Amino acid sequence: MAAVLELVAGSYEQITFGYRVKTDGKVWSPKADFTHHAHTAAITSVTASERFVVTGSKDETIQLYDMKKRVEHGALLHHNGTITCLEFYGSSHLLSGGEDGLLCVWNTKKWQCLKSIKAHKGSVMSLSVHPSGKLALTVGADQTLRTWNLINGRSAFVKNIKQNSHIVRWSPDGDSYAVVINDKVDIYELETASVTATITNPKRISSLQFLNNAILAIAGDDDIVRLHDTGKKKMVCEFKAHETRVKALDSFMMEDCCVLVTASNDGFIKMWKLHLNQAETPSLLGEVNTSARLTCLTVWKPSSV
Ligand SMILES: *[C@@H]1O[C@H](CO)[C@@H](O)[C@H](O)[C@H]1NC(C)=O
Ligand SMILES: *[C@@H]1O[C@H](CO)[C@@H](O)[C@H](O)[C@H]1NC(C)=O
Repeated sequence: MAAVLELVAGSYEQITFGYRVKTDGKVWSPKADFTHHAHTAAITSVTASERFVVTGSKDETIQLYDMKKRVEHGALLHHNGTITCLEFYGSSHLLSGGEDGLLCVWNTKKWQCLKSIKAHKGSVMSLSVHPSGKLALTVGADQTLRTWNLINGRSAFVKNIKQNSHIVRWSPDGDSYAVVINDKVDIYELETASVTATITNPKRISSLQFLNNAILAIAGDDDIVRLHDTGKKKMVCEFKAHETRVKALDSFMMEDCCVLVTASNDGFIKMWKLHLNQAETPSLLGEVNTSARLTCLTVWKPSSV
């Protein structure tokens, strides 16, 4: 069944780009749909709910764009420093993290800051909300991994990981999570909090995406994307995705295949099709040249289509 979705990418050039994609046919051609220039410095993070596209920037603001009305929806001014990470929980809450060490929880009805937690000494580097919505993980520039109880806003667990991690991510089922330190990913099991697998990438890791509970896509400071099976502890495939370094990854499932989306410094957003149970090199479904240096990416998928 064909669906309409939108590729949304942020750039160093302060602009957010939206490209509409119709998923019928062999070739998916992204069509320019909107640009949003609300920031006054590079965009660092982007995420989307059914209704809103939200961007964070070095300009210390979070900007909201209403995908239904196709208009700006104001800004969230609370952080003091670069916004480093943003993630929705469902459509009801947004979490933000910043250079100021704060983890904020926002209600998306009135865009009130419900909780503002001093999460780390130094910057919050990355955050991830558990699929249940009850827990969040953050990593910070204080060499800790912290687990937050989102029901009461309190710290549930602190782990000294001895180095600064810059990416943390739950698996889709929430049974495990990935913690990235430079060029290395450790996969932790939730139940035991122990490391079950370690993957080393040839370059510093810039982005990581669970394609399912086992397969992890990893992009580093080069033009290659590598897929690893964390259960079988082996690399499934690697392929050259761009001309320069890959900055961001996202993915979604369509029928029996997975679509991996990549964004690069070379200005391109590309969509790749792959079957997760086969060790095959992904095939290119479509691409677009934004002519901007892209920094972050998300796929907006309205559930009504
Ligand atoms: C923001 O951070 C700067 C530099 O760390 C500090 O001087 C200033 O007081 C902070 N402002 C607020 C409102 O916290
Ligand atoms: C992408 O677009 C830019 C600006 O229009 C252009 O300079 C560049 O050559 C394009 N890249 C490719 C590979 O076509």
